[in-house]
Amino acid sequence: MRVDEVARLWDANADRWTEDVRAGFDVFRDAYNNPAFFAFVGPVAGLDVLDAGCGEGTNTRLFARGGARIVGVDLSPAMIARARATEQEEPLGVRYEVGSFTELAGIEDAAYDLVVSTMALMDSPDLDAAVAAFLRVLRPGGRLCFSVTHPCFTNAAMGFGEEDGVSFLRVRAYAVDAPVVETWKFGAAPDGTPPFRIAYFPRTIATLVHAVLAAGFRLDGLVEPCPTEEACREHPRLARYRTIPHFLILGARKP
Ligand SMILES: C[S@@+](CC[C@H](N)C(=O)[O-])C[C@H]1O[C@@H](n2cnc3c(N)ncnc32)[C@H](O)[C@@H]1O
Repeated sequence: MRVDEVARLWDANADRWTEDVRAGFDVFRDAYNNPAFFAFVGPVAGLDVLDAGCGEGTNTRLFARGGARIVGVDLSPAMIARARATEQEEPLGVRYEVGSFTELAGIEDAAYDLVVSTMALMDSPDLDAAVAAFLRVLRPGGRLCFSVTHPCFTNAAMGFGEEDGVSFLRVRAYAVDAPVVETWKFGAAPDGTPPFRIAYFPRTIATLVHAVLAAGFRLDGLVEPCPTEEACREHPRLARYRTIPHFLILGARKP
């Protein structure tokens, strides 16, 4: 599957996605992944940051509020249109560009302290090209931090079950190297909400780590966050991830 096909899928999702995220239906982001990811990244004030696969810009704006000078890049013109409209309504100094993070065309070499990417790399083909582009735009010593769905515990062939009152996860396939087109919606979205249709590119943990090392990065962190007890109390749908992480976060440095 080519990136232009991925762009078409996300263009079709853009309005629904933007409304649902901003309505707070993405509980996994708000109560689980973002707290873990922002803690992992640490302070960003004064840093030049690139957000790769920024979507409609909710997380980009959180980094901007933290004091980052930030540029968001996304493949989907419709997502970027929503991001730019919000920037116009409430300016935070964010620049948004349409483009593929597998190229980062028009993005200057060695101009960024930090490249972040939240929940986007598993939605794109050509991981090696993306990681090479991240290395190119980072300054020496600059850092790459990305989150993806956990390669071992999330893909189309898996599903939760229940035995003697205990949740278990059935894993039917892991080392799969073919894109899957999936339809799903946020669990907190009201009944009748139409689902998204997205392409997902399964990769093993070894594939992710090797891509980062082969590009020339040094690994400087790997986290498999589980939701806090407090988050599970507030959002019981997160409880089954208390011991089965839904996300993987990786950090790496350009030498
Ligand atoms: C699940 S959304 C996440 C968006 C945003 N990072 C967030 O956390 O809300 C995935 C995004 O990745 C974008 N994307 C997928 N492949 C891409 C690529 N090759 N280059 C740039 N963006 C890409 C999609 O257009 C989509 O907006």
